[in-house]
Amino acid sequence: MQLKVTSLRRTSIRVILLGILALVFSACHLDMYDQPNYKPLQASDFFADGASARRLVDGTVSRNGLKIDERTTGRVGGDPAGEYVSIEQTGVELGEALVARGQARYKIYCASCHGEKGNGKGIAAGPIGKGPLGLVVPSLFYVDEIKGKPVRGESFDLASAPDGYWFKVISQGVANPNYDPNKPPTPDNPRYTMGPYNHRIQDVNDRWAIIAYIREMQKNPPEK
Ligand code: HEC
Repeated sequence: MQLKVTSLRRTSIRVILLGILALVFSACHLDMYDQPNYKPLQASDFFADGASARRLVDGTVSRNGLKIDERTTGRVGGDPAGEYVSIEQTGVELGEALVARGQARYKIYCASCHGEKGNGKGIAAGPIGKGPLGLVVPSLFYVDEIKGKPVRGESFDLASAPDGYWFKVISQGVANPNYDPNKPPTPDNPRYTMGPYNHRIQDVNDRWAIIAYIREMQKNPPEK
């Protein structure tokens, strides 16, 4: 009996101590809370226009406010189940400037694997044309090499894949058919065989520019 009372007392002392501690800590704010920041739309005398918020940089595109159409999806009417479009149906201004832009973007984003010559033998793929995952990186400029190469989930081969499909590959990557969704996505269980580039090539016109450049190269491929 004696023992029980003592342990009860101990418990209540602990509860009281915890209560005091909780009070002490809840009363103290750290610096981040009290920093001198502005509330949305609050005035400021720091800037000449009297507003604390700065104007968006020219050309800023809202990630959520994208217009859903041929140009932003590569599909007729922007319908996720629609037919793939050709670049002519997107309204993107075609011509030399687009191709030149595409060439520069291709060198930045694609050449490391697909090669500057578009032969699938970029630095990351190595001379035997195997990508980081040991996957064969396809040639992109030499149509004869991709004739008959099946495209997973589609009825066309890679050589006759419409521009809209290329747009999808650049934007969403290529899904790994062996990905196990019950395991975390790790290098042993990659979600993609080629990763998506929509967050890296955010301007959709740049993706079409890359496609325009690749189409030019396919018409007139460089010496192998
Ligand atoms: C990190 C390496 C890497 C980079 C960078 C890369 N790719 Fe790929 N790409 C691959 C691999 C690997 C495959 C083969 C995927 C497969 O067969 O599952 C592939 C496949 C493709 C395919 C064929 C898709 C299919 O369904 O068969 C196209 C088209 C393509 N890439 C275009 C591009 C373009 C355009 C760029 C630049 C924006 C690019 N890739 C950047 C590695 C890369």
